[in-house]
Amino acid sequence: MELIKAKDYREMCKLAAEKMIKLVMEKPNAVLGLATGSTPLGTYGFLKQDYEQNGTSYQQVTTFNLDEYVGLDGSHPQSYRYFMNKNLFSGIDIQLDNTYVPSGQVENMEEECLNYESLLRTKGPIDLQLLGIGRNGHIGFNEPGTSFQTNTHVVELTESTREANKRFFDSIEEVPTHAITMGISSIMESNEILLLVSGESKAPIVRDLFEKEQTEEIPATVLKSHPNVTVIADEEALSLLTEKV
Ligand code: PGA
Repeated sequence: MELIKAKDYREMCKLAAEKMIKLVMEKPNAVLGLATGSTPLGTYGFLKQDYEQNGTSYQQVTTFNLDEYVGLDGSHPQSYRYFMNKNLFSGIDIQLDNTYVPSGQVENMEEECLNYESLLRTKGPIDLQLLGIGRNGHIGFNEPGTSFQTNTHVVELTESTREANKRFFDSIEEVPTHAITMGISSIMESNEILLLVSGESKAPIVRDLFEKEQTEEIPATVLKSHPNVTVIADEEALSLLTEKV
């Protein structure tokens, strides 16, 4: 894993956006893997700003999102489809038909998992997968203990993840209990992975990621065996690393 140290959240986002823009300019039909949460928001802001100022085009770009809550329709303000439309897709010239977010509201979720996986195979591989990391080391909604062999699947969310996400809902009861997520194996199929980490609350997991052995108890440690991973982390996130970088 290559580590790039950023001063703060803003610089992390800027560096990530520059990497994505460079890819789209070099490969206009790039396939991007996207994430939701607080971490990538600033990066999406820079992409929209660049689109407005420089006109970098996403007309031929395809995107795949990592995950979606089960039970929320794409028009629900807390659904990840809504998040993506609002925070990125509406501000660039991407064709919405080329943006894939797993559906959390179909009758047969198992079939949806298979469909998403087969879309990944036919349209992919993903050129660059953007990732955040949970405080418990999850990537996508792959919680600790998830097999590294998993494809897209439905998961029961841990209490810590529901707690972490309740700030977006009126109460913890409203936070969905299940989600559909790309599996660890599906994520590892990406040609390149870009992990963004910011803030003090992520410092313990960043230390674990760099200093512990690979283990399914810390899903993100799987990235140690991917040949092309860049971690962009800010100073706060790196503050607990024993070997100062
Ligand atoms: P965050 O979430 O970006 O909101 O911190 C990251 C994650 O849980 O994967």
